[in-house]
Amino acid sequence: MATSTNSHLIRNQTQIPKSISRSLLHLKKPSTINLTTTTKTKPISIRCSSSTITVVDSNPRVINFAAGPAALPENVLLKAQSELYNWRGSGMSVMEMSHRGKEFLSIIQKAESDLRKLLEIPSEYSVLFLQGGATTQFSALPLNLCNSDDEADYIVTGSWGDKAFKEAKKYCNPKVIWSGKSEKYTKVPSFDGLEQSMHAKYLHICANETIHGVEFKDYPVPKSSDGYLVADMSSNFCSKPVDVSKFGVIYAGAQKNVGPSGVTIVIIRKDLIGNARDITPVMLDYKIHDENSSLYNTPPCFGIYMCGLVFDDLLEQGGLKEVEKKNQRKAELLYNAIDESNGFFKCPVEKSVRSLMNVPFTLEKSELEGEFIKEAAKEKMVQLKGHRSVGGMRASIYNAMPLAGVEKLVAFMKEFQARHA
Ligand SMILES: Cc1ncc(COP(=O)(O)O)c(C=O)c1O
Repeated sequence: MATSTNSHLIRNQTQIPKSISRSLLHLKKPSTINLTTTTKTKPISIRCSSSTITVVDSNPRVINFAAGPAALPENVLLKAQSELYNWRGSGMSVMEMSHRGKEFLSIIQKAESDLRKLLEIPSEYSVLFLQGGATTQFSALPLNLCNSDDEADYIVTGSWGDKAFKEAKKYCNPKVIWSGKSEKYTKVPSFDGLEQSMHAKYLHICANETIHGVEFKDYPVPKSSDGYLVADMSSNFCSKPVDVSKFGVIYAGAQKNVGPSGVTIVIIRKDLIGNARDITPVMLDYKIHDENSSLYNTPPCFGIYMCGLVFDDLLEQGGLKEVEKKNQRKAELLYNAIDESNGFFKCPVEKSVRSLMNVPFTLEKSELEGEFIKEAAKEKMVQLKGHRSVGGMRASIYNAMPLAGVEKLVAFMKEFQARHA
């Protein structure tokens, strides 16, 4: 903290605009003002008494390794903050707008068009902004794509793929054609040996298993003549370029890489829309949402707005090729630290399919894991505890995790090892 009498206080070259400092000097009572000078700068606090202005560089943010809801880019949060009260001169917050008004229509249309640019989504695909999380898609898929006796193949590389399969069992005739369960979900199968059904309507994968840290680096091709690939991309959506034309359906909850929870994005080939079974609830019918441009009922307006800000930010960063490079660098740094620790840290996942997004690891001395998590939290590195079903640690390093966050974790891991080896 730095203090100065009747003057601008400058710490780390923080410039207080003259207009602000002048008005601060007129404050009678001691006060604290939080302000952000531009969207590029971090928030600062200014404490002011009649004769003293104190600037506190008080970034209260932690380094958040949560698996989802997860960290959002700071500049996106600050932009949303600056627009929260009065969105671009409309006199309203996005939370207060009619979803049918011109303001919100411009928001959802831009979000869709930016997502189309980012993923180079072909025109024969629809983009839907839905609710209910990826979990709702586990049932929406078979209800829209299958009759009750239709077959569908599932490759199960982790808990989410397993949940998708179990839900599909209620509505069609799915089959697990490969499961990594006996090897504790550490692998992706070789595609050559897969025994696919020649009649399967679709082949389902979870492109990135969030809990186990297993990621498909390439995609299997369905063997049935008019079959297509369906992917749950919840935890690696927009983390790298994807050839959308390889898929019939891609779906993802927003809350890991592209926004807050409450928005689910479905990218679906248009010819697959319109075959929902009669029993399909209206809210799960892709045709209803497609015909109404995701505005059949009140959509999660604020969440869609936030996703739009994230898409804008990803485009500004240079698009998904650039984003992928950053993600590769972060993941490499962390996996190298684990692999070069002489077994002190271990990652159980086969190297070729390790996730760029979710890095699970354990300590050789498992009794130290609690201490590791506690000490990391003291250094403002939070949410490192592994999923309750697998234990150990997990660092989720989605798009919004800066390289510096991973560097700090790696430095801490090395220092922790030096103390405990
Ligand atoms: C890969 C994957 N699929 C599905 C889900 C379930 O998503 P939701 O909670 O949005 O229903 C998750 C949640 O973490 C996930 O990581």
